[in-house]
Amino acid sequence: MSITDGFDLISNHAYAEKGVPHDLWTRLRAESPVHRCHPAGFAPFWAITKHADVCEISKQPDAFSSADGIILLENGQEEVVRDSQGFGAMRVIIEMDPPEHRAYRNVTSPVFTPRAVKALDAAIDRSAREVVDRLAGETGEGECDFANDVAAAHPLRILSTMLGVPRESEPDILRLTNELFANDDPDLQREGEDRQQAAIQLGLELYQLFDKIIQDRRANPRDDLASLLANATIDGEPMGMMETVGYYLITFSAGHDTTKNALVGGMRALLEHPDQFEKLKQHPELVESAVEEIVRWTSPVNYMKRVATRDYELRGQSIRTGDNVILFYASANRDEEVFVDPFDFRIDRSPNRHLGFGIGEHFCLGANLARRSQRALLLELARRMDWAELAGEPQQIHSGFVVGLKKLPMRYRIKPAA
Ligand code: HEM
Repeated sequence: MSITDGFDLISNHAYAEKGVPHDLWTRLRAESPVHRCHPAGFAPFWAITKHADVCEISKQPDAFSSADGIILLENGQEEVVRDSQGFGAMRVIIEMDPPEHRAYRNVTSPVFTPRAVKALDAAIDRSAREVVDRLAGETGEGECDFANDVAAAHPLRILSTMLGVPRESEPDILRLTNELFANDDPDLQREGEDRQQAAIQLGLELYQLFDKIIQDRRANPRDDLASLLANATIDGEPMGMMETVGYYLITFSAGHDTTKNALVGGMRALLEHPDQFEKLKQHPELVESAVEEIVRWTSPVNYMKRVATRDYELRGQSIRTGDNVILFYASANRDEEVFVDPFDFRIDRSPNRHLGFGIGEHFCLGANLARRSQRALLLELARRMDWAELAGEPQQIHSGFVVGLKKLPMRYRIKPAA
């Protein structure tokens, strides 16, 4: 019998009920690393679970295209998401192939270099301090849901600053992107029986929010990412409206939930491995490797889909033109051939060649920013959190794509700001 038909690897509901399928991936890596899956309710796909294979495929965007979309949708959802009146019409770099992809990526890549991110140092540190101050409150003691009260707030503030989203619109953009990504989660999804109508409405609202910013930055350009995007050109022509709005959307949505899920998963890992939290408190200089370990451990982007543009042999399996190929980063990040004791959480792991930010053509554009913002919050917590423990059962988001916890109840004691 086959190890898996793939349903538990891809279904949002399976992730919500059973969590991340590490047991299955461990078996697949050992027994069937390029595994053909025929899950009920989804198109068939190849599950790629080894680190080396994820690298090989990611580095050949001509043979494995992103243009058909990066999520394997449930049958029937394709029409909902791709509806031309909804956000399906927006064009995003993550779903472009070279050479077009390169031209669009170059528009914003200068904003995401380590040097450019340095210019945000003060804003990032202030955000981390404010979030932890709020947690400390008057007494320094309390209970919170770390997911919503802390981990969501920090990247929200930073991305909003970069993208020109005014403070009063922050809750709107948070709600809209939650609805976009967790559209299967009963707690987060947009209300309404008609999923297609809900998706169209969601696309419209996102479009309106970003359109306001674009018009403002065209009239009054400033020195920020929002202005860069609003006034960008491709081959000497102004960037199209769908591409411009798509760029705002991908920057915000790719940057927010991912960073948030890494932070929540990281906090949980530190609570469950108190020796590692203690080590970070004693050695704050380990914060860089701690962030890398947290991204490896949590792998907030669980997978990316590619479609083969030609026949391809991999470990004796024949991938055919048109086949879906799913790159499971979370599995590659536990690959025994690459990581010593991959199921141990070690904040000083070195080397740590994780693929949490992908690799190759589409390597995460925001990786420097994601690293810097996580470091700021972790350091603030390590400096000030005297004591903490879980205060209830963590809850998994109904999503197999950007995975993580939607609730992390905890109790804590925090020192006031120095
Ligand atoms: C811990 C946080 C993050 C994780 C785990 C993460 C993960 C990833 C991964 C795996 C990819 C590769 C997609 C592919 O190969 O198809 C990617 C691409 C991307 N990420 Fe991130 N990301 C994070 C944070 C951010 C942030 C903060 C931003 C922006 C502010 C961002 C913007 C992007 C963009 C624009 C792409 C598409 C790049 C392209 O197509 O060339 N990400 N990310």
